[in-house]
Amino acid sequence: MAEDLTISAGTKKEQYESLIPQIQGLLHGEKDGIANLANVCAALKEQFGWLWIGFYLVKEEEMVLGPFQGPVACTRIQKGRGVCGGSWAQRKTLIVPDVDKFPGHISCSSLSRSEIVVPLIKEDSVIGILDVDSGDLNTFDITDQEYLEKIIALILRNGLNF
Ligand code: SME
Repeated sequence: MAEDLTISAGTKKEQYESLIPQIQGLLHGEKDGIANLANVCAALKEQFGWLWIGFYLVKEEEMVLGPFQGPVACTRIQKGRGVCGGSWAQRKTLIVPDVDKFPGHISCSSLSRSEIVVPLIKEDSVIGILDVDSGDLNTFDITDQEYLEKIIALILRNGLNF
């Protein structure tokens, strides 16, 4: 079966609205965590073309790099460190309009200018985060937060077995 994504033009909201049912289709009937996170990264990358999209997964006391699309990245992040570790510690989405102004930002790529990080919370525990980096300043706003949180909710509702 072909799994081609239909790429939509239009406003950011319209792009997410077109993407979300397609992500539901990709997740449908599949509970394998790596497969689902990998396809979500690929779908977001194809639709939006951001610099880096990926997951870090909590393993014991730190987070380890999971499925991603984009340049190579740091493999381990401690709780409270950088934007990703901050989102883990604070258990909330963090939007960073200018990474150079975020104290403690971890620079995996010198090309990253702005960032959004959304936590994956399962049964009250943070099990990982979604990190998205853009090569432009001020890329992410409340619309991205709303839709990326929806996508994370879909992934968690669908089941995520590792
Ligand atoms: N910039 C992130 C680190 C991860 S990379 O951007 C892929 C941070 O400050 O947590």
